[in-house]
Amino acid sequence: MTMKSFALAALAALALIACQPDAPEQAPYDPAHDYYSYANSDAYVTEHLLLDLEVDFEARALIGTATLRLRTLQLGAPTVVLDTRDLVIEGARVGLQGGAREAVEFELGERHELLGQPLTVTLPKGFDPQGGFELEISYRTTPGASALQWLPPELTAGGQLPLVFSQSQAIHARSWVPLQDTPAVRMTYEATLRTPENMLALMSADNDPLTPRSGVYQFEMPQPIPSYLLAIAAGNLFFAPIGEDTGVYAEPELLQASAYEFAETQDMLDLAEQRYGPYDWGRYDLLILPPAFPYGGMENPRLSFITPSVLAGDRSLVSLIAHELAHSWSGNLVTNATWRDIWLNEGTTSYLEARLMEELFSKDRADEERVLAWNGLQADVLSVPPQFQPLAPKVLPEHGEGPAQGMQYAKGQFFLEHLERLFGRERFDPFIMAYFQAFAWQSITTETFLDYLDEHLLSTYPGIYTRAQAGEWLYEPGVPADFQPPVSATLAAAAAAASDFAAGSLALHALDLGDWSPHAVVNFINNLPAELSPAQLTALDEAFAFSASANAEISRAWFIQVAQRRYEPAYAAMQAHLGRHGRMKLIVPVYAALDQNGVDGELARELFQANKSRYHPIAVDAVQSVLP
Ligand code: BES
Ligand code: ZN
Repeated sequence: MTMKSFALAALAALALIACQPDAPEQAPYDPAHDYYSYANSDAYVTEHLLLDLEVDFEARALIGTATLRLRTLQLGAPTVVLDTRDLVIEGARVGLQGGAREAVEFELGERHELLGQPLTVTLPKGFDPQGGFELEISYRTTPGASALQWLPPELTAGGQLPLVFSQSQAIHARSWVPLQDTPAVRMTYEATLRTPENMLALMSADNDPLTPRSGVYQFEMPQPIPSYLLAIAAGNLFFAPIGEDTGVYAEPELLQASAYEFAETQDMLDLAEQRYGPYDWGRYDLLILPPAFPYGGMENPRLSFITPSVLAGDRSLVSLIAHELAHSWSGNLVTNATWRDIWLNEGTTSYLEARLMEELFSKDRADEERVLAWNGLQADVLSVPPQFQPLAPKVLPEHGEGPAQGMQYAKGQFFLEHLERLFGRERFDPFIMAYFQAFAWQSITTETFLDYLDEHLLSTYPGIYTRAQAGEWLYEPGVPADFQPPVSATLAAAAAAASDFAAGSLALHALDLGDWSPHAVVNFINNLPAELSPAQLTALDEAFAFSASANAEISRAWFIQVAQRRYEPAYAAMQAHLGRHGRMKLIVPVYAALDQNGVDGELARELFQANKSRYHPIAVDAVQSVLP
């Protein structure tokens, strides 16, 4: 099972419980409805958000106000319902734009484990917000806010100052701002943040690399974004330029290494603009976070948040940057309308990522990455319950936090690669570029995509592929049989070497791993046969020092094997790995493999208890879901 399907599989069990015969009757599933938001965004819709927040490290809280400028869609709707999660609401006031504001009644509803609490604000009698109005909420976050991680100094690189960062996707923005937390709604925003004077605050907005460190920071985001792209960070952060419109923020201890590792970012941006249309966001910068950042990367507009675990020293893991950058088109410019449509974000981005890697580096390198993705997808097809295998599955909140953990990345990528092969790049490339232009700054559903695909590709070049065939990818489990999987000679050789070595027909000294790409090494490790002896594992680790690898993808692959096989000589290094990293992809499968090897369930739980305080709330949940 790949990492992305872990949480999904655990949560699918809940789905079965929810389908007991005496469950109450439900309205038919509506693909255009966002089941993950309480907001009545059909009556009022947010156009602009104004934040004024103090970043209080002592209290581990953001404290201040959020003012929403709402536009009226339905005259006379008596309440505004917002999404919140673990917020303390101190007051609510409404007023016409620019006019005086009056205090109004508000109420927090019952807390749903996944969705948080609806905040219902009652509009004054006779209040007639025809064009729209402003709603000001005074509030503070609580220390356990699911989007925020408040790192004490010892969990930063410098060890002197604390650091805070957010992760809003998918539905955690509501834990730091009361708002309409649905990707169907787009808003511009502006913010004032107050921090201790020696810190720098950053947002998914117009960060100025030359801003003086004053402790008061102003931001503007003139492009309309969905709530999950709201982002904030503050700490001992500094800037280093990469190219004309690109640069990197990090703690000073990591700044040079980061600027070196990601030196290709400007080239990636230039190429992406040529291929997919103008980058209309201003600058593109990276923020390199401490190891506790729970993802590889997060495509916060103008400022991708990045794990330090890709600082391999040799620029070998920069496909992550290509991925987050590509989201500037697929996701940030054209956005999934609900989380059920997340393949539009992640599948399309994985497709663009591979194209960028191919053109910037080589087809061989891109194909290695495609084959690793294909291997993961095949494992998912075997382990993910069939009802979650469509690109656009029916997902309800009971099933977990949206379908983000399913097969949407690789299956979406290969759907588009399939179309590309059938129609040829000379037709497919202009189609994709036109698609981004057609839906720029909009949030769309899978069905809108399918209509557009039908009209502008399938029907334009008839006789090649039908709407029903495309529908198989979108609405059926598995992968259609006529798909031609990617191939990579180097990865195939690595897999063959793994079995030959295990069988004794290839000697250790004949293994030239030093000349291989890190991806080939990962594939070698992943393909080590079950019957490999401990002596052979020792020989490998002594020869190639997998346990001490500086490449986190190699460490991940190796420690999964170590845990599955109970290879105890490497347990100390495995424990260090679990303590060093907080990125879910690197730790969750190792905990799961320990738990599933039949002996080390207790050890897995002990290690988790010891490391828990270093992990982000989202990562804590993810580990817990594999250690029930
Ligand atoms: N947007 C995702 C991260 C995400 C997805 C957060 C769903 C919450 C819910 C990001 O772009 C991503 O895909 N990150 C991957 C990178 C990889 C596929 C190159 C990751 O973190 O591993
Ligand atoms: Zn992504």
